[in-house]
Amino acid sequence: MTPASRTIWIDSDDPTVVVAIEQRLLPFEYVEVPIRTSSEMTQVIADMVVRGAGCIGVSAGYGMYLAALATAHMDVTTADESLRRAGAELEASRPTAVNLTWAVQRQLGAILGIEDGEERIAAAKALAETIADEDVAYCAAIGQHGLGIIEEIHERTGETVNIMTHCNAGWLAFVEHGTATAPMYAAHKRGIPIHVYVSETRPRNQGARLTAWELRQAGVPCTVIADNSAGHLLQHGKVDFVIVGSDRTTVSGDVANKIGTYMKAVVAKENGVPFYAALPSSTLDPLLHDGVAEIPIEERDGTEVTRATGYLNGEHVEPETAAPGSNAANFGFDVTPRRYVTGIISERGICEASEEAILGLYPEFADAK
Ligand code: MRU
Repeated sequence: MTPASRTIWIDSDDPTVVVAIEQRLLPFEYVEVPIRTSSEMTQVIADMVVRGAGCIGVSAGYGMYLAALATAHMDVTTADESLRRAGAELEASRPTAVNLTWAVQRQLGAILGIEDGEERIAAAKALAETIADEDVAYCAAIGQHGLGIIEEIHERTGETVNIMTHCNAGWLAFVEHGTATAPMYAAHKRGIPIHVYVSETRPRNQGARLTAWELRQAGVPCTVIADNSAGHLLQHGKVDFVIVGSDRTTVSGDVANKIGTYMKAVVAKENGVPFYAALPSSTLDPLLHDGVAEIPIEERDGTEVTRATGYLNGEHVEPETAAPGSNAANFGFDVTPRRYVTGIISERGICEASEEAILGLYPEFADAK
């Protein structure tokens, strides 16, 4: 089956069904899964069938459309209660990415109080599609802004530009393009020679499995490295810049991203290598100022750490890799304080990781309480 061009969409044959790429099986098997209710959407987000901050925000938008479908014959009071309940479930499915709350609240703002069931459904569907389309447009814009960084390095050195990334902030983590990968795709398309170090990203290996698959599909040269190799490469001048995505960025510029990001940022700064976070405005949290203290960090089941996941002889396998009976801690994300972030690349441009610079690009966030 040829992979779809988007990670999630409304089924064109049956518009009461949302279809998503089953990301847990990639890159070894390509499967599309139908999602029929908001509870099913909550589950596929929690189980990481869909994952990545942008993609789960868009999924929550579609989840609210599915929730609206279920209210077709309800009076407005009952419908509003049902929609609020569905929204709370979706928001609770994963705690770190703010995109979830952002999409749910946007949907509730648009559909609560609509008396007519058909109108309510139409409004929820239109907004879910708008959220998805905006995600695509924002990622494309991030690609163009980030392209400037790659062009500048290539013009200065005349050499292949070596980039390091972590986890998957590619199109699978959004709807199309991705954030950290969008400048890579734009540079590759323009014929600028690039090479990407993809850190494997234990415990779930989103780098080795998803980012490497994406880059290979696009023909972008890349090398998978063990997470522990990053410091060595940064220390030996093998990397021109690091670029990652984000699951939540405070208005002051602290960046929450996949566990292991912070270590890379600190070592990058120690070695004078620029470190960028690429993110759409749906990932900015205007209410938070101190990321380390305030951003909730997801903790997942320890078996993700004590087992590996892979594919052997045509089967998905999960061999034990730790001493039997070992306790395991599994933090999904960490926070990189703004002092380690060279710049934030958003759909409106590149700015410093500071409240002044972020509010300069997004003055509307100044009023958030
Ligand atoms: O746990 P995941 O796979 O949802 O985490 C994904 C990441 O950490 C990405 O790097 C992040 O979402 C930023 S890009 C959307």
